[in-house]
Amino acid sequence: MKFHRICVLGGSGFVGSAIVQALAAQGRHVRVLTRNRERSKDLILLPTVDVVECNVHDQAELNRQFSGMDAIINLVGILHESRPGKIINSESGSGDYFENHIELPRKILMAITANSIQRLLHMSALGANVNSRSAYQRSKAYGEHWIKAAAQPADRNGAEITGFVRGYRLYPTIFRPSVIFGRGDSFLSMLTGLVKMLPIIPLAQAGTRFQPVWVEDVAGAVVDALDNPDTFGASYNVCGPSVYTLRELVEYVARTVNVTPHIISLNRRLSYLQAAMMELVPGKKLMTRDNFYAMLSDNVCDGEYSAPPDFRPSPLEAIAAEYLNGSTPRGRYTAFRGRAGR
Ligand SMILES: NC(=O)c1ccc[n+]([C@@H]2O[C@H](COP(=O)([O-])OP(=O)(O)OC[C@H]3O[C@@H](n4cnc5c(N)ncnc54)[C@H](OP(=O)(O)O)[C@@H]3O)[C@@H](O)[C@H]2O)c1
Repeated sequence: MKFHRICVLGGSGFVGSAIVQALAAQGRHVRVLTRNRERSKDLILLPTVDVVECNVHDQAELNRQFSGMDAIINLVGILHESRPGKIINSESGSGDYFENHIELPRKILMAITANSIQRLLHMSALGANVNSRSAYQRSKAYGEHWIKAAAQPADRNGAEITGFVRGYRLYPTIFRPSVIFGRGDSFLSMLTGLVKMLPIIPLAQAGTRFQPVWVEDVAGAVVDALDNPDTFGASYNVCGPSVYTLRELVEYVARTVNVTPHIISLNRRLSYLQAAMMELVPGKKLMTRDNFYAMLSDNVCDGEYSAPPDFRPSPLEAIAAEYLNGSTPRGRYTAFRGRAGR
């Protein structure tokens, strides 16, 4: 089975751009749905990519945009809510997490059914769990619920999804990555900003463990899975080769950009207080209480799900130093000199 015409939701983002570029490199036709076409300038230039501005939350619009597509890739996700709400279960709730992580996957399934599309790849997150204290992680788990329900034979569970046609067969695959790094990431770049700005860093949940994975490896796993029947109906945890505590990651980033901040590991109570205070700061959020709740558990591949087939992730150290250094004034200077041939 080969899927040629792919519609990508969230294709303008950090992970999405890598996936769309990889699909385009294989000559596949890609339709990227976005709220703002202007922000996807790099993608517009790709010959087989069509960037369409639309409201993906509008069911009729989604049904229209899926027309003529063979497969759908859903990457829409938010780390912080602008409109906070409540996650009650897969059917009821409110706020941005509910709208983007639960309602949208359900609408996508309805639009998929309306257009008789058979393939769906869905980006969830490692740690997605209906029992988590983090609304982000609960919402991601309830989103997975809808996708998994659709993967069941339609004559048993299909009717659970409104508008789902009995007897119709869908092949979904779910990806659950740990924190993703790469040029343009928010996580390591945010830590880099911190270590460069602050001589003393009070670090919340410094002992929480992560298994960072390179964005190109994530994109490769998604694109490789697209036509691979072995991945149909499967869920995968997606991690890098090594585990680091948050403190170790901050130390690594500091070493890489050649600064030596003093790091103070905060206990759980102070971590919560720091998150609560940071939540009040206007503008882009560095941390919220919901992030604190998510960080109460390690974000590592623990065997609940396997890795994608033939997945061989790259070590962080082989990739990150180059782009983290490039963002230092000295790194930029070296890059300019290199380009000028000096
Ligand atoms: N980055 C990580 O470390 C990480 C780790 C685990 C899981 N993930 C998951 O991977 C996926 C991609 O993450 P990313 O890092 O690429 O995120 P990103 O750069 O923030 O991109 C998110 C995408 O979602 C779309 N989007 C955001 N809010 C939306 C809204 N209210 N309505 C419609 N579309 C909206 C945006 O599309 P437009 O702005 O073009 O409309 C954007 O392309 C997400 O599902 C995320 O939860 C990421």
